[in-house]
Amino acid sequence: ATVIVTIDGVAASGKSSVASGVARALHVPYVSSGLLYRAAARAALNAGLPLTDEAALTAHLRAHPLRLDARADGNRAYQGDTDLTPHLHTDEVDDAVSAVAALPGVRAWIDDHLRSLPAPFVAEGRDMGTNVFPHATAKFYLTASPRVRAQRRVNERDADIDAIETALRERDRRDARQSQPAPDAHLIDTGPLTLQGVIDLILQRVQA
Ligand code: ADP
Ligand code: CDP
Repeated sequence: ATVIVTIDGVAASGKSSVASGVARALHVPYVSSGLLYRAAARAALNAGLPLTDEAALTAHLRAHPLRLDARADGNRAYQGDTDLTPHLHTDEVDDAVSAVAALPGVRAWIDDHLRSLPAPFVAEGRDMGTNVFPHATAKFYLTASPRVRAQRRVNERDADIDAIETALRERDRRDARQSQPAPDAHLIDTGPLTLQGVIDLILQRVQA
């Protein structure tokens, strides 16, 4: 059977770093679903569309489709010929993305795009193991305390740790609906582990 490994989890739990490492070890691509949601939010902001206008946003996506390039050295998201990737990990997109991700029409569009990608791959996000790939070969769900996650993100964002922790908690709250672990997912608290430790734990399970 064609291998699909899903790695879901809360904001900044290490999903993309872990998925990238697991995918490299398995010699398959990884798929960052969050990057597509970020691209949808960026597209809405660029087009000046209200973040809650589902009809306008789904029409916009049909007219100007997004595309995920699942590159092993880092996923990239395009809208037409425009590479949106450099503009997706900003505070502005962090603040906007959950509203866009709450729209069923946007989720359906992104789900279809993800299911069209050629397996095998490692897919990471919130609902990869529950909604998008329920028949995945192996499923994992990453957690860590808000403080630990904020500490890790301090190095990537120009903000103090308390502000980052507050923003992470708020995004977890807004994303709660699509962030439930699959019943058959292996839960991993990454707090006490190194990045390589998490990757090795997953590889042991997948290769067992
Ligand atoms: P997410 O995709 O969930 O937002 P990222 O992979 O972007 O998470 O960010 C997690 C950051 O935390 C990375 O810089 C990663 O190297 C770091 N990190 C440190 N320790 C760990 C660990 N034990 N597990 C996962 N990530 C870790
Ligand atoms: O890396 P981080 O956890 O900060 O965010 P991400 O994985 O890039 O996801 C960005 C946003 O996309 C999340 O806050 C969710 O609103 C949304 N998302 C989602 O709803 N479903 C997914 N499968 C992946 C992301």
